[in-house]
Amino acid sequence: MDYLQIQKAQKLHGEIKISGAKNAALPLIAMSILAKNIVTIKNLPHVADIKTLLKLLSNLGAECSSSWENDTTTIDTSTLNQTKATYDIVKTMRASILVLGPILARFGHCEVSLPGGCAIGQRPVDLHLKALEQMGAVINIEAGYIHAIAPNGLKGCNIIFDKITVTGTANIVMAAALASGVTTITNAAREPEVVQLCEILNASGVKIDGIATAVLTIHGTAGELLDIEPFSVIPDRIEAGTYLCAAAITRSELTLKGANAKHLGAVLSKLQEMGSKFTITDDSITIHPSEVIKHVKIVTQEYPAFPTDMQAQFLALATQADGTSIIEERLFENRFMHVSELQRMGADISLNGNVATVNGHSKLSGTDVMATDLRASSALVLAGLVADGITNVHRIYHLDRGYDSLEKKLQNVGADISRLKE
Ligand code: EPZ
Repeated sequence: MDYLQIQKAQKLHGEIKISGAKNAALPLIAMSILAKNIVTIKNLPHVADIKTLLKLLSNLGAECSSSWENDTTTIDTSTLNQTKATYDIVKTMRASILVLGPILARFGHCEVSLPGGCAIGQRPVDLHLKALEQMGAVINIEAGYIHAIAPNGLKGCNIIFDKITVTGTANIVMAAALASGVTTITNAAREPEVVQLCEILNASGVKIDGIATAVLTIHGTAGELLDIEPFSVIPDRIEAGTYLCAAAITRSELTLKGANAKHLGAVLSKLQEMGSKFTITDDSITIHPSEVIKHVKIVTQEYPAFPTDMQAQFLALATQADGTSIIEERLFENRFMHVSELQRMGADISLNGNVATVNGHSKLSGTDVMATDLRASSALVLAGLVADGITNVHRIYHLDRGYDSLEKKLQNVGADISRLKE
C-alpha cells in the first residue's frame, strides 16, 4: 500500500489546475445508460471511483474506452446485456447505486447490491427506493441485493424527498427521464453536480423545468432513448476548496486554474471570515491569505450552504486559527474520524456529539497518521503541511478515490510531499 510523506512546507506558490468533479462525473457516467448513441465525456478526473464505475458499466456489457492523453472517454451502452450490479464492485463504491434508476428505466428490471454503510455513516438508500416505488417499481431486498422491476414501465408522479439527497435526486431524475409522463421532485438537491446532470438531459430532449431549484419537473420520453451530445465535466469544487485551504493554512498565495468560484460561495465566504482575500476571474481563483487566521463557526448543510465535504479540511485549518472555532456536522453521523488523528498531531479539539470545538492556535507535530475516509485524508495532508517534522499519511487509497494526482499538484507548487510504498 502507498503512503504520503510530508515535510513541513515553507510557502507554496504558483498555479494548480483543477480536475473535473468526481461527484458530477459519476451520475453523468450512469446517465450514458439512457443513451442510444455513443456518449463522449471530456474532463473526467483520473480517480479510483471513476475507474470503478467505468468497470461496472463494462461488466454490464457497455463498451468504455478512455484516452487519457486527449482527455476523452467514450461509453457505448448499446451492448449492455446485464442488469445486475454485483457486490464485489458496489462494496468498493456506494455511488454504484446511481445505475439503479437508469437501468430500471431502460430495461424494466435491475439488481443492485445494497451499498453498505461507510466510514462516515450508515448512508441508507431508502429515499431512492421509495421514490422508485412511487413511480411504479416493485422493489424487494433479498440476500443483500435490491431487486427492482417495473413491469409496466416507470410512470411520472409527484415525489417529495423527506431529506435532501444528492445521489437520490440524480437517480430519480435519470429514472424520470425515460418514464412516461411528468415527474416532479420536491426538496430536490441543488448541488452543481445535479444541475449539470439536469442541463445535459434537458439538452438531450428531456424537458426539465426548475433546474438548480428545489423543485424539478421532468417530462419523460416514455422509453425513447436519448441522443447525448459530447460534454465536459464541471470543475471539482471540493478539490478546489481543499487547495484553497492548503494555501490558507500555509499562508501561501495560490491560483487555481479552471475553478468555478460560483460553486464555492459558502467556502469562499468562510475563508474570507478567516482572513483570506481573493482575486476571481471566470475560470480561476487566486487566494491572498492572511498571516493571522481568524477563528470561525461552521455548520454543514446542503448546497448552497457550507458543504459537508469541506468540513474536515476546515477543521484542520481551524487548528491554526487564533481563538476557538465551532464546527457542526449536520449531514453525517460519523464524519469526525480525522479528529483523533489531528489530536495525535497536537491539535486541541473536543467533540460533543456532532459539534467539534477547536482551540487554536495549536502547534502540530508530524507523526504517522491514518486516513479513514476521502475527505479526512486531505485534512491530514493539510495538517502535515504545517506540522513540525515529517507526517506520514497511511491508507491513502481513501484519498485516491477522489483526488486526481494530489501529491503531484502540491509538489508543483513547492510542497515537500512524496508517495512512498509501505
Ligand atoms: C453525495 O453523497 C456525495 N457523493 C457525498 O460526497 C456528499 O458528502 C453527500 O452527497 C452530501 O453532499 C456523491 O455525490 C457520489 P446524500 P450521497 O444522499 O448522495 C441521508 C465525497 O466526499 N439519506 O445527499 O450518498 C444520508 O444518510 C462524498 O465526495 C437517507 O437517509 O449523500 C445523509 O445523512 C462523501 N436516505 C443525507 O441524507 C437516502 O435514501 C445526505 O445524503 C439517502 C440519503
